[in-house]
Amino acid sequence: MVLLSLLNIAALSTCAAAQNLTVLQQTLSAHGVSAVYQKDKNYTTVSQAYNRRFTISPLAVAFPTSVAQVSSVVAAGAAQNLEVVARSGGHSYIANGLGGTNGALVVDLSKLKAITVRPSNNTALIESGNRLGDVALALNAAGRALPHGTCSYVGIGGHSGYGGFGFTSRAWGLTLDTVKSATVVLANGTVVAASANVNPDIFWAIRGASPSVGIVTSIEVQTFKAPASATVFQYSWNSLSIAAASTAIAAFQTYATTKIPAELGAELTLSKGPSSGKVAFVFTGAYYGNSVALNTIIAPYLKNLPKPTSNNTKVGTYINSVSFFAGPQPVNTASAPDVSDTFYTKSLMTPQSAPMSTAAINAFTTYMATQGFASVTSWFVQLELYGGTNSAINTVPLDSTAFAKRDTLFTIQLYASSATGAPPYPAAGFAFMDGMVASIVDNSPANWNYGAYLNYIDDRLGVNATNLYYGPHYARLKSIKARVDPKDIFRFPAGV
Ligand SMILES: Cc1cc2nc3c(=O)[nH]c(=O)nc-3n(C[C@H](O)[C@H](O)[C@H](O)COP(=O)(O)OP(=O)(O)OC[C@H]3O[C@@H](n4cnc5c(N)ncnc54)[C@H](O)[C@@H]3O)c2cc1C
Ligand SMILES: *[C@@H]1O[C@H](CO)[C@@H](O)[C@H](O)[C@H]1NC(C)=O
Ligand SMILES: *[C@@H]1O[C@H](CO)[C@@H](O)[C@H](O)[C@H]1NC(C)=O
Ligand SMILES: *[C@@H]1O[C@H](CO)[C@@H](O)[C@H](O)[C@H]1NC(C)=O
Ligand SMILES: *[C@@H]1O[C@H](CO)[C@@H](O)[C@H](O)[C@H]1NC(C)=O
Ligand SMILES: *[C@@H]1O[C@H](CO)[C@@H](O)[C@H](O)[C@H]1NC(C)=O
Ligand SMILES: *[C@@H]1O[C@H](CO)[C@@H](O)[C@H](O)[C@H]1NC(C)=O
Repeated sequence: MVLLSLLNIAALSTCAAAQNLTVLQQTLSAHGVSAVYQKDKNYTTVSQAYNRRFTISPLAVAFPTSVAQVSSVVAAGAAQNLEVVARSGGHSYIANGLGGTNGALVVDLSKLKAITVRPSNNTALIESGNRLGDVALALNAAGRALPHGTCSYVGIGGHSGYGGFGFTSRAWGLTLDTVKSATVVLANGTVVAASANVNPDIFWAIRGASPSVGIVTSIEVQTFKAPASATVFQYSWNSLSIAAASTAIAAFQTYATTKIPAELGAELTLSKGPSSGKVAFVFTGAYYGNSVALNTIIAPYLKNLPKPTSNNTKVGTYINSVSFFAGPQPVNTASAPDVSDTFYTKSLMTPQSAPMSTAAINAFTTYMATQGFASVTSWFVQLELYGGTNSAINTVPLDSTAFAKRDTLFTIQLYASSATGAPPYPAAGFAFMDGMVASIVDNSPANWNYGAYLNYIDDRLGVNATNLYYGPHYARLKSIKARVDPKDIFRFPAGV
C-alpha cells in the first residue's frame, strides 16, 4: 500500500514536472532573456545558496532586464507547469529563492535595480533586484530612510514580502508597512498594479506573503526623514549565570512595556558562555533621538543587570548607524562579494498580551547555558523588540496586511551554524534547535498564541507551519491564491 502510493506520487510529480527544455530555451531566447542552464559554465555560481546547508539544482536561472521579460519568463514556466520562483537577494534561510527543491525556474531580479526617490510626496520607487544597503544609500543621499533589517546584502524583494524588521521599526513599522503600491507579475504572466484601490486583494496579500502570490517587480514605499542623529549602543556581558540571564530577559519584557520612546530600537543576543551554566549576553540597539537622552532612557533596564564587561556607544549620523549594524560587511554591496553560511534557524514570536512566563524564561536560559554549552554548533539567539510602548509595528490593524502577528513583543531568532560555517551542518543541530524552542513552548500555556517569522523561514514545522506563519490570514490567502495562481506555479516549502 505504502509503496504503491509512493509510486503514484512519483509518477504524478514526474508528469507535473515534465518539461521540454528546448522549448523553454527557445521561448526565453525569443524574448531576449538571458538564462543559465545546468550545462552552462556559470551554473554552479548562479545556483549557489546563501545557506550552504542546501544544494539545489534549478532547471534554469533567468536574468530578465525588464518587467516585460519577467512576464515572459513566468509565462514560459507556467506553460510547462514548472515551479517558478523569484530571487531578489537570495538570502532565504531555506534557499526558497532557488525554489527550495530541485527543478525550479528561477527568476533572478538582480538586473532590476532602479531606485527613484520622489521629493514631491516622499515616496520612492524601488525595483526588486535591490539589496537593503544600496536602498539605504540611495534614500540617504536624498535625506530619506526606510525601516529594514541590518544585513546590507539581504534583498528588498523577500524582505518586504514577508516583513522587514530593523531598529527603526518601532518608530516606522516593518518594511512592508511602508508599501503604497506595487507592480506584480501574476502566474499567467499578466502584469498588474496593486494598491489600496487597484487589485486590493493582491495588495493585501503581497504585504506578508508575496512569494506565494506573484513576482513583485517594484514597490512604491513611503519614506521617512533620515534622523539627524543616531546613537548605537552595545552593552556586553561575557558570562551571565542562568539566574542573571533569566532576570535580564524578564526585565526586558517589563521594561519594554514601561514608557519607552518609539525612537528606541533594541534586542538581546545570547550565545555560548565560557563554561556550562553560563551564557554570553549583549544588549544592542539604536536611539534615533537626541543622544543625550539615551542613558536616562536605558538606565531603568540596565539596573537589572550587573556591571557590563564592555560598553560601546557611538553617536553619529543615520547612515553611520546603518554601517555599524551591517559590519563587517559594507553598506554598498557592489564594493565586496557576499558571504555565505551553513545553518539552521527557527523563530518564535511571543505575544505582547501574553509575555513569556518566569518558568518559560528559566527553562530557556537553562537550556542555552547547559545544552547550549555542550552543542557542537556555533549558535546565537536574538530577542528582537517588535512591541513595547509606542511601537509602530503593533499599531497597524491586524487585518490591513497579510502579516499575521501584530501583537508581538519579541521575535526570537534561534540561529545555529556548523562550527566552521562550511558544510556539513551537524545532524545533532536540528534537535538542539527544536529543543531550544520547546524549552519555551513546553513551559507556556497550551493555548499560547505564539507565531513564527517568515523571513526566518523554517521548512521543518510540518503541520504547524500554516498557523505559526499565516495565523488567521491563511484562509483569505488560500482563496486569493486559488484565484491568481490556481495551478500553484509559485510553489516552495512553507508557502501558501
Ligand atoms: C545575514 C542576514 C541578516 C538578516 N537580517 C534580518 C533583519 O535584520 N531583519 C529581518 O527582518 N530579516 C533579516 N534577515 C532575513 C531576511 O529578511 C530574509 O532572509 C529575506 O526573505 C531575504 O530576502 P532575499 O530577497 O534576500 O531572499 P530570496 O532568497 O531572494 O527570497 C526569499 C523569498 O522571497 C521570494 N521573493 C524574492 N523576491 C521576490 C519578489 N520580488 N516577489 C515575490 N517574491 C519574492 C523568493 O522566491 C523566496 O521565497 C536576514 C537574513 C540574513 C541572511
Ligand atoms: C521538445 O520540443 C521540440 C520542439 O517542439 C520537439 O522537437 C522535441 O521533440 C521535444 N522534445 C521532447 C523530449 O518532447
Ligand atoms: C557568466 O559569468 C561571466 C563571468 O562572471 C559573465 O561575464 C557572463 O556574463 C556570465 N554569463 C551568463 C550567461 O550569465
Ligand atoms: C507620488 O508622486 C509620484 C509622482 O512624482 C506619483 O507617480 C505617485 O503616484 C505618488 N504616490 C503617491 C502614493 O501619492
Ligand atoms: C556606557 O558608555 C557611555 C559612553 O561612553 C557612557 O555615557 C555610559 O555611562 C556608559 N554606561 C554604562 C552603564 O557603563
Ligand atoms: C507541532 O506542534 C506540536 C505542539 O506544540 C508539537 O508537539 C509537534 O512536535 C509540532 N510538529 C512539528 C512537525 O514541529
Ligand atoms: C491572468 O490572471 C488574472 C488573475 O486571475 C486574471 O484576472 C487575468 O484575466 C488573467 N489573464 C489572462 C490573459 O488569462
